[in-house]
Amino acid sequence: MHSVVETSGPLAEHIARLFWIFVGISAVVYTLVIAFLVYALRRRGREEAPRDTANALRVIGVAVGITTMVLLGLGVADFLAGRALWRPPGDAMRVRITAHQWWWEIEYLAGVPADRVRTANELHIPVDRPVALELISDDVIHSFWVPSLNGKRDLIPGYTNNLQLIASRPGVYRGECAEFCGFQHAHMSITVHASNADEFARWQDAQRQPAPAPADAALARGRDVFMKSTCPQCHTVQGTDAAATLGPDLTHVGSRQRIAAGTLAMSPANLAAWIRNPQSFKPGTRMPPAPLSGDDLGALSNWLVSLQ
Ligand code: CUA
Repeated sequence: MHSVVETSGPLAEHIARLFWIFVGISAVVYTLVIAFLVYALRRRGREEAPRDTANALRVIGVAVGITTMVLLGLGVADFLAGRALWRPPGDAMRVRITAHQWWWEIEYLAGVPADRVRTANELHIPVDRPVALELISDDVIHSFWVPSLNGKRDLIPGYTNNLQLIASRPGVYRGECAEFCGFQHAHMSITVHASNADEFARWQDAQRQPAPAPADAALARGRDVFMKSTCPQCHTVQGTDAAATLGPDLTHVGSRQRIAAGTLAMSPANLAAWIRNPQSFKPGTRMPPAPLSGDDLGALSNWLVSLQ
Protein backbone atom coordinates (compact mmCIF):
# COMPACT_ATOMS: atom_id res chain seq x y z
CA MET A 1 0.00 0.00 0.00
CA HIS A 2 1.28 3.42 -0.88
CA SER A 3 -1.50 5.93 -0.43
CA VAL A 4 -2.06 9.11 1.54
CA VAL A 5 -5.76 8.46 1.98
CA GLU A 6 -5.63 4.71 2.72
CA THR A 7 -4.30 5.15 6.20
CA SER A 8 -3.15 2.41 8.55
CA GLY A 9 -2.45 4.37 11.69
CA PRO A 10 -3.80 7.21 13.84
CA LEU A 11 -1.10 9.70 12.82
CA ALA A 12 -1.73 9.29 9.10
CA GLU A 13 -5.46 9.64 9.83
CA HIS A 14 -4.92 13.22 11.03
CA ILE A 15 -3.31 14.02 7.68
CA ALA A 16 -5.99 12.24 5.67
CA ARG A 17 -8.73 14.10 7.61
CA LEU A 18 -7.02 17.42 6.90
CA PHE A 19 -6.73 16.44 3.23
CA TRP A 20 -10.47 15.75 2.97
CA ILE A 21 -11.39 18.95 4.82
CA PHE A 22 -9.33 20.94 2.29
CA VAL A 23 -10.77 18.99 -0.65
CA GLY A 24 -14.35 19.45 0.62
CA ILE A 25 -14.11 23.16 1.31
CA SER A 26 -12.22 23.83 -1.90
CA ALA A 27 -14.91 21.96 -3.86
CA VAL A 28 -17.68 24.07 -2.27
CA VAL A 29 -15.79 27.33 -2.90
CA TYR A 30 -15.05 26.35 -6.49
CA THR A 31 -18.68 25.44 -7.15
CA LEU A 32 -19.91 28.74 -5.67
CA VAL A 33 -17.43 30.81 -7.67
CA ILE A 34 -18.42 29.10 -10.92
CA ALA A 35 -22.13 29.46 -10.08
CA PHE A 36 -21.78 33.21 -9.43
CA LEU A 37 -19.71 33.62 -12.57
CA VAL A 38 -22.35 31.88 -14.70
CA TYR A 39 -25.09 33.96 -13.04
CA ALA A 40 -23.23 37.21 -13.68
CA LEU A 41 -22.48 36.35 -17.31
CA ARG A 42 -26.09 35.40 -18.04
CA ARG A 43 -27.44 38.50 -16.36
CA ARG A 44 -25.05 40.66 -18.29
CA GLY A 45 -26.24 39.14 -21.56
CA ARG A 46 -29.93 39.70 -20.73
CA GLU A 47 -30.14 43.30 -19.70
CA GLU A 48 -28.23 46.49 -19.34
CA ALA A 49 -29.05 46.80 -15.62
CA PRO A 50 -28.39 50.16 -13.96
CA ARG A 51 -25.34 49.97 -11.68
CA ASP A 52 -26.07 49.73 -7.99
CA THR A 53 -22.68 50.57 -6.52
CA ALA A 54 -23.72 50.34 -2.88
CA ASN A 55 -25.19 46.86 -3.37
CA ALA A 56 -22.08 45.71 -5.28
CA LEU A 57 -19.83 46.90 -2.45
CA ARG A 58 -21.99 45.04 0.07
CA VAL A 59 -21.71 41.81 -1.92
CA ILE A 60 -17.94 42.21 -2.24
CA GLY A 61 -17.66 42.92 1.50
CA VAL A 62 -19.60 39.77 2.38
CA ALA A 63 -17.50 37.69 -0.05
CA VAL A 64 -14.25 39.00 1.43
CA GLY A 65 -15.57 38.26 4.93
CA ILE A 66 -16.49 34.68 4.02
CA THR A 67 -13.12 34.15 2.29
CA THR A 68 -11.26 35.39 5.37
CA MET A 69 -13.28 33.09 7.65
CA VAL A 70 -12.64 30.09 5.38
CA LEU A 71 -8.89 30.76 5.23
CA LEU A 72 -8.72 31.24 8.99
CA GLY A 73 -10.70 28.02 9.51
CA LEU A 74 -8.34 26.08 7.23
CA GLY A 75 -5.37 27.60 9.07
CA VAL A 76 -6.76 26.42 12.41
CA ALA A 77 -7.44 22.92 11.01
CA ASP A 78 -3.87 22.79 9.70
CA PHE A 79 -2.45 23.90 13.06
CA LEU A 80 -4.51 21.33 14.99
CA ALA A 81 -3.44 18.51 12.66
CA GLY A 82 0.21 19.55 13.00
CA ARG A 83 -0.10 19.60 16.77
CA ALA A 84 -1.74 16.17 16.84
CA LEU A 85 1.22 14.78 14.88
CA TRP A 86 3.76 16.00 17.40
CA ARG A 87 4.06 13.51 20.25
CA PRO A 88 6.58 13.29 23.07
CA PRO A 89 8.73 10.13 22.74
CA GLY A 90 7.37 8.61 25.98
CA ASP A 91 7.95 4.86 25.99
CA ALA A 92 8.09 4.67 22.21
CA MET A 93 10.50 2.22 20.61
CA ARG A 94 13.52 4.23 19.44
CA VAL A 95 14.94 3.64 15.99
CA ARG A 96 17.61 5.66 14.25
CA ILE A 97 17.34 5.94 10.48
CA THR A 98 20.34 7.21 8.56
CA ALA A 99 19.83 8.04 4.91
CA HIS A 100 22.63 7.29 2.48
CA GLN A 101 22.89 7.65 -1.28
CA TRP A 102 20.82 5.49 -1.90
CA TRP A 103 19.69 3.28 0.93
CA TRP A 104 18.32 3.44 4.46
CA GLU A 105 20.34 2.34 7.47
CA ILE A 106 18.14 1.22 10.36
CA GLU A 107 19.37 0.88 13.95
CA TYR A 108 17.20 -0.19 16.87
CA LEU A 109 18.46 1.82 19.83
CA ALA A 110 18.06 -0.64 22.70
CA GLY A 111 19.36 0.33 26.14
CA VAL A 112 21.91 -2.49 26.10
CA PRO A 113 24.39 -2.27 23.19
CA ALA A 114 24.28 -6.06 22.68
CA ASP A 115 20.54 -5.76 22.00
CA ARG A 116 20.99 -3.22 19.25
CA VAL A 117 20.00 -4.42 15.83
CA ARG A 118 21.28 -2.94 12.60
CA THR A 119 19.57 -3.60 9.30
CA ALA A 120 18.71 -1.81 6.06
CA ASN A 121 15.74 -0.73 3.93
CA GLU A 122 13.12 -2.86 5.71
CA LEU A 123 11.87 -1.44 8.99
CA HIS A 124 10.08 -3.95 11.23
CA ILE A 125 7.75 -2.55 13.88
CA PRO A 126 5.12 -3.94 16.25
CA VAL A 127 1.52 -2.81 15.71
CA ASP A 128 -0.10 -0.30 18.08
CA ARG A 129 3.20 0.71 19.62
CA PRO A 130 4.59 4.17 18.89
CA VAL A 131 7.97 4.09 17.15
CA ALA A 132 10.09 7.20 17.59
CA LEU A 133 12.37 7.68 14.60
CA GLU A 134 15.56 9.73 14.81
CA LEU A 135 16.26 10.80 11.27
CA ILE A 136 19.73 11.81 10.12
CA SER A 137 21.61 11.87 6.83
CA ASP A 138 25.10 10.79 5.94
CA ASP A 139 25.45 12.90 2.80
CA VAL A 140 22.71 15.04 1.22
CA ILE A 141 19.12 15.88 2.16
CA HIS A 142 16.70 12.97 1.85
CA SER A 143 13.09 12.69 2.97
CA PHE A 144 11.40 9.81 4.76
CA TRP A 145 7.84 9.22 3.60
CA VAL A 146 5.61 6.24 4.33
CA PRO A 147 2.22 7.76 3.42
CA SER A 148 0.03 5.13 5.09
CA LEU A 149 1.66 5.81 8.48
CA ASN A 150 2.62 9.49 8.65
CA GLY A 151 3.72 12.53 6.67
CA LYS A 152 7.13 13.38 5.25
CA ARG A 153 10.16 14.39 7.25
CA ASP A 154 13.52 15.46 5.87
CA LEU A 155 16.81 13.84 6.83
CA ILE A 156 19.40 16.58 6.99
CA PRO A 157 23.19 16.21 7.38
CA GLY A 158 24.31 17.38 10.83
CA TYR A 159 20.81 17.64 12.25
CA THR A 160 18.49 15.12 13.89
CA ASN A 161 14.82 15.21 12.92
CA ASN A 162 12.10 13.28 14.69
CA LEU A 163 9.03 11.47 13.44
CA GLN A 164 6.73 8.93 15.02
CA LEU A 165 5.04 5.98 13.38
CA ILE A 166 2.09 4.02 14.69
CA ALA A 167 0.70 1.14 12.62
CA SER A 168 -2.74 0.07 13.77
CA ARG A 169 -2.83 -3.14 11.75
CA PRO A 170 -0.26 -5.64 10.48
CA GLY A 171 0.92 -5.19 6.93
CA VAL A 172 3.71 -4.06 4.66
CA TYR A 173 3.71 -0.32 4.03
CA ARG A 174 5.75 1.10 1.26
CA GLY A 175 7.66 4.35 1.46
CA GLU A 176 9.93 6.38 -0.75
CA CYS A 177 12.62 8.95 -0.43
CA ALA A 178 10.68 12.15 -1.16
CA GLU A 179 13.52 14.60 -1.74
CA PHE A 180 15.67 14.53 -4.87
CA CYS A 181 19.02 13.23 -3.64
CA GLY A 182 20.94 12.27 -6.75
CA PHE A 183 20.71 10.00 -9.80
CA GLN A 184 19.19 7.05 -7.98
CA HIS A 185 16.71 8.99 -5.87
CA ALA A 186 13.93 6.96 -7.50
CA HIS A 187 15.61 3.73 -6.35
CA MET A 188 15.52 4.56 -2.66
CA SER A 189 12.44 2.89 -1.28
CA ILE A 190 11.81 1.70 2.24
CA THR A 191 9.20 -0.75 3.47
CA VAL A 192 7.69 -0.87 6.94
CA HIS A 193 6.71 -4.35 8.07
CA ALA A 194 4.20 -4.08 10.90
CA SER A 195 3.42 -7.28 12.79
CA ASN A 196 1.90 -8.25 16.11
CA ALA A 197 4.09 -8.05 19.21
CA ASP A 198 5.02 -11.77 19.30
CA GLU A 199 6.03 -11.91 15.68
CA PHE A 200 8.03 -8.72 16.05
CA ALA A 201 9.82 -10.10 19.14
CA ARG A 202 10.72 -13.24 17.19
CA TRP A 203 12.10 -11.16 14.35
CA GLN A 204 14.11 -9.01 16.76
CA ASP A 205 15.53 -12.05 18.60
CA ALA A 206 16.61 -13.58 15.29
CA GLN A 207 18.25 -10.33 14.21
CA ARG A 208 20.21 -10.12 17.45
CA GLN A 209 21.95 -13.41 16.72
CA PRO A 210 25.25 -13.50 14.84
CA ALA A 211 25.15 -14.90 11.31
CA PRO A 212 24.52 -18.65 11.26
CA ALA A 213 27.58 -20.86 10.65
CA PRO A 214 27.70 -22.31 7.10
CA ALA A 215 25.68 -25.53 7.04
CA ASP A 216 27.82 -27.25 4.39
CA ALA A 217 31.05 -26.98 2.41
CA ALA A 218 29.45 -25.02 -0.45
CA LEU A 219 28.19 -22.33 1.93
CA ALA A 220 31.55 -22.28 3.74
CA ARG A 221 33.16 -21.59 0.38
CA GLY A 222 30.75 -18.71 -0.15
CA ARG A 223 31.76 -17.24 3.18
CA ASP A 224 35.45 -17.61 2.26
CA VAL A 225 34.86 -15.81 -1.04
CA PHE A 226 33.19 -12.99 0.91
CA MET A 227 36.05 -12.70 3.40
CA LYS A 228 38.78 -12.78 0.71
CA SER A 229 37.19 -10.29 -1.67
CA THR A 230 36.57 -6.58 -1.13
CA CYS A 231 33.20 -7.13 0.63
CA PRO A 232 34.45 -6.77 4.25
CA GLN A 233 35.84 -3.33 3.46
CA CYS A 234 32.29 -1.95 3.47
CA HIS A 235 30.00 -4.52 5.11
CA THR A 236 29.47 -6.12 8.50
CA VAL A 237 28.52 -9.74 9.07
CA GLN A 238 28.27 -10.35 12.81
CA GLY A 239 30.04 -13.56 13.72
CA THR A 240 32.79 -13.02 11.13
CA ASP A 241 35.68 -10.56 11.01
CA ALA A 242 33.75 -8.31 8.62
CA ALA A 243 32.86 -5.21 10.64
CA ALA A 244 32.84 -2.23 8.28
CA THR A 245 29.90 0.16 8.33
CA LEU A 246 30.06 1.96 4.97
CA GLY A 247 27.42 -0.29 3.40
CA PRO A 248 24.38 -2.15 4.69
CA ASP A 249 24.84 -4.68 7.52
CA LEU A 250 24.59 -8.11 5.89
CA THR A 251 24.35 -10.27 9.04
CA HIS A 252 20.78 -11.30 8.16
CA VAL A 253 20.59 -10.04 4.59
CA GLY A 254 18.85 -13.26 3.49
CA SER A 255 15.86 -12.40 5.68
CA ARG A 256 15.13 -9.28 3.64
CA GLN A 257 12.71 -9.36 0.76
CA ARG A 258 14.57 -7.09 -1.61
CA ILE A 259 18.09 -5.95 -2.53
CA ALA A 260 19.50 -2.46 -3.01
CA ALA A 261 16.69 -0.42 -1.40
CA GLY A 262 13.86 -2.17 -3.20
CA THR A 263 15.54 -2.35 -6.61
CA LEU A 264 15.63 -6.18 -7.00
CA ALA A 265 13.84 -9.12 -5.39
CA MET A 266 16.01 -11.17 -3.03
CA SER A 267 17.31 -14.29 -4.82
CA PRO A 268 20.72 -15.87 -5.42
CA ALA A 269 20.54 -14.97 -9.14
CA ASN A 270 19.66 -11.32 -8.45
CA LEU A 271 22.31 -11.06 -5.74
CA ALA A 272 24.92 -12.46 -8.14
CA ALA A 273 23.88 -10.01 -10.87
CA TRP A 274 23.94 -7.13 -8.39
CA ILE A 275 27.37 -8.04 -6.97
CA ARG A 276 28.87 -8.54 -10.43
CA ASN A 277 27.83 -5.11 -11.63
CA PRO A 278 25.82 -2.88 -9.29
CA GLN A 279 26.31 0.07 -11.66
CA SER A 280 24.08 -1.57 -14.26
CA PHE A 281 21.15 -1.47 -11.80
CA LYS A 282 21.96 1.74 -9.92
CA PRO A 283 24.38 3.92 -11.88
CA GLY A 284 26.34 6.01 -9.41
CA THR A 285 25.92 3.69 -6.44
CA ARG A 286 29.01 3.61 -4.26
CA MET A 287 29.19 -0.17 -4.41
CA PRO A 288 31.99 -1.14 -6.84
CA PRO A 289 31.70 -4.14 -9.18
CA ALA A 290 33.29 -7.36 -7.88
CA PRO A 291 35.43 -9.19 -10.45
CA LEU A 292 34.58 -12.74 -9.32
CA SER A 293 34.43 -15.97 -11.32
CA GLY A 294 30.98 -17.44 -11.94
CA ASP A 295 31.56 -20.23 -9.40
CA ASP A 296 32.74 -17.86 -6.70
CA LEU A 297 29.83 -15.53 -7.37
CA GLY A 298 27.34 -18.41 -7.11
CA ALA A 299 28.85 -19.65 -3.83
CA LEU A 300 28.89 -16.10 -2.42
CA SER A 301 25.27 -15.41 -3.39
CA ASN A 302 24.03 -18.69 -1.95
CA TRP A 303 25.84 -17.99 1.31
CA LEU A 304 24.37 -14.47 1.54
CA VAL A 305 20.84 -15.79 0.96
CA SER A 306 21.48 -18.39 3.71
CA LEU A 307 22.03 -15.55 6.21
CA GLN A 308 18.44 -15.63 7.47
CU1 CUA B 1 17.19 9.90 -0.93
CU2 CUA B 1 15.88 10.91 -2.64
